[in-house]
Amino acid sequence: MHAEQLFTGISQLATPRGRFALRGPAMREIDVIPGAALAVTDGRVAWVGPADSWRGTSDVITELGGRAVVPGIVDPHTHAVWAGDRLADFEARCAGVPYEEILARGGGIRRTMRLTAAAPMEELVAGAERRLRALIQSGATTIEVKSGYGGTYEAELASLEAIAAVTPLVPARIIPTLLVHVPPRDTAERDAYITMATEQLIPEVARRRLARAVDVFIEREAFSLAEARAIFEAARDAGLPVKAHVDQFHAIGGLELALEFGAISVDHLEASGAPQIQALAASSAVGVILPGVTIHLGVNAAPGRAMIDAGCAVAVATDLNPGSAPIFSSQLAMALAVRVNELIPAEALTAATANAAAALGLDDVGRLAEGQRADFLVVDGEDWRTMVYTLGGSPVAEMYIAGVRVT
Ligand code: NIG
Ligand code: FE
Repeated sequence: MHAEQLFTGISQLATPRGRFALRGPAMREIDVIPGAALAVTDGRVAWVGPADSWRGTSDVITELGGRAVVPGIVDPHTHAVWAGDRLADFEARCAGVPYEEILARGGGIRRTMRLTAAAPMEELVAGAERRLRALIQSGATTIEVKSGYGGTYEAELASLEAIAAVTPLVPARIIPTLLVHVPPRDTAERDAYITMATEQLIPEVARRRLARAVDVFIEREAFSLAEARAIFEAARDAGLPVKAHVDQFHAIGGLELALEFGAISVDHLEASGAPQIQALAASSAVGVILPGVTIHLGVNAAPGRAMIDAGCAVAVATDLNPGSAPIFSSQLAMALAVRVNELIPAEALTAATANAAAALGLDDVGRLAEGQRADFLVVDGEDWRTMVYTLGGSPVAEMYIAGVRVT
């Protein structure tokens, strides 16, 4: 075989195996290849294995100096487009006012919606770029970005346009999602809002290909099951896959509803119990856990350990947003899944790569195997577990996207 590039001097190459989402015990069965080499052609992995088994030739050989290599991190849940801050809410929460109460009073997410809807496009794009660069710096090579702080038809489209505008400005692959986030406070306006979302917004977003999935926040302080069902039906009619914020504070049936619509992921799950875990294990959806929310809001941790033990496919994300998770490192989210949700390091790597890709409906990133995009990280150390061990600082020495070095 002839490859354009060959990377050698890899102390260990650690990668999830298989295809699609990995469930239960398969999450820990990663490959760790000592003394590895990685061949890249046309931005894709052409060959991977022990260096002494390589029989081909290559145009360029890059010696990585005895450091570990892992797949680029996939961050499958962020809200990187927002304006303003939530510092007063944060201080109120520290003094004991619950997150949901702040939201019910018209603050919280609704405050960010007012500020985002009023912000000029340049400010939305610049803010998103800054935040995405921080996630990329931490090792993210694919990042999902949701709208959701626009609120109105026009402002929600503007947030998606901001995501489209920031996409060519950053080296990572960006996957846009339409999030129907919270209804108007005035209950009389709720029906009209659902009509707007289902009859105008979702069809327009699909027509303009501004998002690859539709997400909805199902919670007592957000959308009801009946409202979410209407949103999922509109997404299905528009040909867009669905995902949902469920069981964040209360398990009100959001997870079960999302699964009924074949959701590609169900996210949060802090309040999920045994029935929800069983339902998820029996589905094709990926459960996305968000340990940064647990740390920042002081809420329960999603039962990541129990989910994997029950046979679920689990992914991890930052949930980067100003209210529940100001966590600007995708690597830190992966590392926290071990401490907060009781994953073991190999499971956390799978959760942050192969399963995170599956949560976005992607199957060409998240593992280092022939045909996959050559998105990989050179670890600052010879042991891949440094990636999961490190809290603060960055264990990422170099990043390659489609075989090209970007940091
Ligand atoms: O994923 N749960 C709802 N939405 C976001 C939080 C947004 C915010 O607080 O601004 C989340 O936690
Ligand atoms: Fe979220």
